[in-house]
Parts: sequence; structure tokens; C-alpha cells
Amino acid sequence: MTRIFSGIKPTGHLTLGNYLGALRRWVGVDQHQSDALFSIVDLHALTVEHDPARVRRLSRQSATLMLAAGLDPQLCTVFVQSHVDEHARLSYLLECTATDGELRRMIQYKEKGTRARAAGQSVRLSLLTYPVLMAADILAYRTDEVPVGDDQTQHVELTRDLAVRFNQRYGHTFTVPRATHPPVAARVMNLQDPTSKMGKSDESGPGTVHLLDEADVVRKKIMRAVTDSGREVEYDRVTRPGIANLLEILAACEGGNPKDLAGVYESYGALKKDTAEAVVELLRPIRERHAELAADPGHIDSVLRKGAERAREMARPTVDAAYRAIGLLPA
Ligand code: AMP
Ligand code: TRP
Repeated sequence: MTRIFSGIKPTGHLTLGNYLGALRRWVGVDQHQSDALFSIVDLHALTVEHDPARVRRLSRQSATLMLAAGLDPQLCTVFVQSHVDEHARLSYLLECTATDGELRRMIQYKEKGTRARAAGQSVRLSLLTYPVLMAADILAYRTDEVPVGDDQTQHVELTRDLAVRFNQRYGHTFTVPRATHPPVAARVMNLQDPTSKMGKSDESGPGTVHLLDEADVVRKKIMRAVTDSGREVEYDRVTRPGIANLLEILAACEGGNPKDLAGVYESYGALKKDTAEAVVELLRPIRERHAELAADPGHIDSVLRKGAERAREMARPTVDAAYRAIGLLPA
């Protein structure tokens, strides 16, 4: 059976981008067809300035939302990364496999590093090594497929390179994984700036729809989305990024494809209105289920505890094998 691994960082409230780009397929397809693990990758939330209490809160909230969106602990393994030591154990071996040059080439490192320096902040070393920890997340489970949004392609490529290199040097240890992306909405853009990704850290900004936003807030954000000059509803990501984003969101909510949908609309206003309603309906059941689940944090904790036990059992043999292969004396 295909092994799948994916993760979400608890760095902010989950967004429509997280849902359409990742979570929805985990729920609808991956957990049914594969042996799947989904992790709240909390160690990755420490690579930029963070507030400890907030990371803790967001970790539990992310887990609750993942279950509310439909992940079923009977079908897949849901757990918190830091509960399973194997990730950090393997990460060090992969740091001894990766090179400084290849990590400095990572787009996310360059972007986030530049932003931090411009704001006068120091750059944590873990921001540079972060893709190695991500590779460890994936390789520890002999993962075949990594369902992610477009922005993670480069990190999964690095993971493949490290797996191949390790296997060549020390003997076959890891499965070489591949990234998979959703057919539409692999990159949901910010509603106020459709040339940049809708990201979690853009707290309560008007360009980001959060899964827990009230219906009226969702409507307002979408009705105020920045559109392009021009009137015709056309699907063109380059010249009409704002409209293309709305068409992709609508297509992802309702099925169908953005190009065909463009032909249906005569005005930007009508497109916005339908997109807003589609998103409100999409999120309604998730919000309702979240409220129920949040009332019983003991249940969430128990799901996470069992998930971590299962994950640990799966990861340990592979990580132990890597320790032996690389030349470390067995304990
Ligand atoms: P992150 O929010 O960076 O932890 O991402 C968790 C998952 O959601 C990853 O698979 C991302 O690729 C995906 N994702 C995050 N933001 C977006 C977005 N705006 N559009 C599509 N997918 C996204
Ligand atoms: N880096 C991913 C992101 O920013 C999150 C992540 C961490 C991840 N480890 C992973 C995704 C392993 C897939 C597999 O979205």
C-alpha cells in the first residue's frame, strides 16, 4: 500500500489555502486509499520568532481542525512531530548528508531570511536546516508520496536528492518519495495581493481566509478581493491574477475547471458573490465540527497520544537502520 506523509506547521490559523492545497485531499482521497500519516510539525514552527504559548495553542487547534475537516484516526495516523523523537534523530544524519550550498539555494530560506534581515531580526540557524528536518519527517516513514501545495516542491526535491545520496553511499535505506499536487488550487493566492501566496502568518489580514472565519467575515474578504483592471471574466494567471485566483477557488469548491467557469460570468461582482457563497458553504461544516471537538480537548489529546505511538513504531526501524548504515555503533 502506498505510504503517504504530510504536515502542517502550527505557525498560524489554518487557511483556505491549507484546505484546498492540502487538507481536503488528505481527507477525501489519501486517508482512504493509502497508509497515511499527517503531522502537526511543531518543530518547524520554531524556525522564526515565536511565542511559546501561541505555538502550543495553535498545535492543538491545528489538530482539532484537521479532525474537524474529516481526518479519521481510524483510517490514518494524526500526531504531533515533537512527540516522536525519530524525526530529530534522523535529521542530524541528513545534515551529514546535505551540503551547505544546497540548503542556501532553497527559495523559502532566501525569502524568509531576507525578510527577517530587512526587519533587523537575526536569522535562526534552523531556518537554514529546516528542509533537512522536513526530509527526515518524510524519509523516516519510507514515504512514497507527499501531498503538498506547489510551494513545497523544492523541499521534496531536496528530500529525494538526500535519499538517493544516502542510499548510494551507505546502502539502500530510504524510499525515494515524490510530491503530489492537487489538480486545481495548488497555490491559493492572497486576496489582497494575488501575486503572493495566501499564508497563515498573514494574521487576520483581509487577504487571507481562515477556516474558522465567521461567514460574514469570509463574504467581506472575498467581496473585497483585489481584481484586475478590465471587465471581462477571463482565466489568465499572468495578466489577471486576481480573477484567476477567484476562479480557481470557485472551481476547487464546486468541481469543474476555472477556464470553463470564466465563460459563465459576465461580471466580476457575480463571480465574487458566487465564490463567497461557495467558500462559506465549504467551511460551514468544518466550523461546526470544530466547535464540537474543541469542547473535548481530552479526546484530541488521546488521538494525538495514540497517533504518536503508532508513528514511533513505524519510524524507529528505519531510523535505526540509518544509524547503523552510516557507521554508528548499535547501542
Ligand atoms: P504550511 O501552512 O506552510 O504549514 O502548509 C501546509 C500545507 O498547506 C502544505 O502542503 C502547503 O503546500 C499547503 N499550503 C499552504 N498555503 C497554501 C496556499 N496558499 N495554497 C495552496 N496550498 C497551500
Ligand atoms: N514545510 C512544510 C510547509 O511549510 C510543512 C512540512 C514539514 C511538511 N514537514 C513536512 C510537509 C513533511 C510535507 C511533508 O508547508
